[in-house]
Amino acid sequence: MKKVITYGTYDLFHKGHYRLLKRAKELGDYLIVGVTTDNYDDSRGKLNVQESLMKRIENIRNSGLADEIIIEEYEGQKINDIQKYDIDIFAIGSDWLGKFDYLKEYCEVVYLERTKGVSSTELRAQNNGILNLGVVGYGRIANRFIQESKFVSGVNVEGAFGRNEDSLKKFIERHELKFYSTNYEEFLKNVNAVYIATPHLTHYEYAKKAIQNGVHVLCEKPIVLDANQAKELYELAKDKNVILLEAIKTAYSPGFIRLKNVAKSGLIGKIKNIDATFTKLITDKNHFAEDKCIEKDGFGEVEVTPGIEERIRELNSKKGGGSITELATYPLLAIIKLLGTNIEDIDFFSYFDKNDKVDMFTKVNLRYKDAIATAKVGLGVKSEGDLIISGTKGYIYVPSPWWKTEYFEIRFENFSNNKKHYYKFEGDGLRYEIAEFVSMINNNRLETYKLTSEESIAIINIIEKFLKGYNLKKI
Ligand code: CTP
Repeated sequence: MKKVITYGTYDLFHKGHYRLLKRAKELGDYLIVGVTTDNYDDSRGKLNVQESLMKRIENIRNSGLADEIIIEEYEGQKINDIQKYDIDIFAIGSDWLGKFDYLKEYCEVVYLERTKGVSSTELRAQNNGILNLGVVGYGRIANRFIQESKFVSGVNVEGAFGRNEDSLKKFIERHELKFYSTNYEEFLKNVNAVYIATPHLTHYEYAKKAIQNGVHVLCEKPIVLDANQAKELYELAKDKNVILLEAIKTAYSPGFIRLKNVAKSGLIGKIKNIDATFTKLITDKNHFAEDKCIEKDGFGEVEVTPGIEERIRELNSKKGGGSITELATYPLLAIIKLLGTNIEDIDFFSYFDKNDKVDMFTKVNLRYKDAIATAKVGLGVKSEGDLIISGTKGYIYVPSPWWKTEYFEIRFENFSNNKKHYYKFEGDGLRYEIAEFVSMINNNRLETYKLTSEESIAIINIIEKFLKGYNLKKI
């Protein structure tokens, strides 16, 4: 008996899939179809798959072509499957030409011509339309955002808004965007969604106007520095039936979501303490660049000219600068995702700059009913950026940079029980938040469990407490 195997996501099962399976089956007597899990697709950066694994399996079963269906969960599984199932032929569409030649060591490899004019990507676009997105701001993060958006299907960055026409024009040319505007009302008329990447203090007005105009908003963190403003914006978004999402990339990344689930599964017992640190010395060349700086992205190095505010904002108290406002969202995210929003008590210890204006380093202590936590952030003090989640049976160690969660270790008193977990964090990771944003819009889901409005408001509430000097002790 000649056994054939093929693999795919098979989202929104279409004619191209059917024809491929039919020809693959004809190559032998028995066809095995491997269907990718959501997790595997996430980890290889295939975002926005619309149908669940069960639904995709059902579609293949209904085609009547597969003799056996298996799931593909990890990179490198194909070699194992070929040996395990004693496969004679590996077949795949011609879009993969040459990519699987390494399997020739194990079986025959056949590339079948892909059916022209149909793909899951196109069907997704037909079903949902393409989201027409505009970027508010043209600084470093906006540059990265545009590169990352190319990895998410169903969204096109079409234009940009900014105050400085010269910089805006350069930005548009560099990214080959269709339009720009220095008039926000005009700009909003040309987009269905915006990504706000301007300095903190401008977020509120930009977000509010967009929401009022029925435009979905993905806003850089922290959305605002005042919890009441945050509540107002989330409520307004609900009233207007538009999405407001905070761009804390870690919250949407597959590794972090796994980490949270493992930590809460009881494996390390009851969580009693969390230590989360994020420091970023602003002596970094990017922050003191005279005119230009080199920004690395997925496509190599690009020259970026940050706006003047961008360069000094981090240390400017009038512009909402400081370690807490700049950096605290990440460690507070970890703490709130793991311990919740019912914080009983909080205090801050800070080291301020010589003018006593902005915090160069702050330690936040949080007390919950059954647990305690510490977040450390610094623009002027460097420390190890790790995350430790301590429980009654063991602890989880996530090395720096924990906010790009790719690896963590579960450790026990008896270290022979230790376990290591690895995940992929693709590119700059912004693609995960973009994918979630697009999926929420397409499915009209106003909330996401990955970061609820309640959690976002709780983080902003802590930042606000700090800015108001609540339980703040300076050294
Ligand atoms: N395939 C094909 N002809 C098409 C589309 C897909 O022969 N028009 C083949 C692929 O080459 C692969 C299998 O079907 O062998 C499963 O592909 P998959 O990636 O699930 O489908 P796509 O439509 O290519 O999905 P996407 O647009 O999300 O990449």
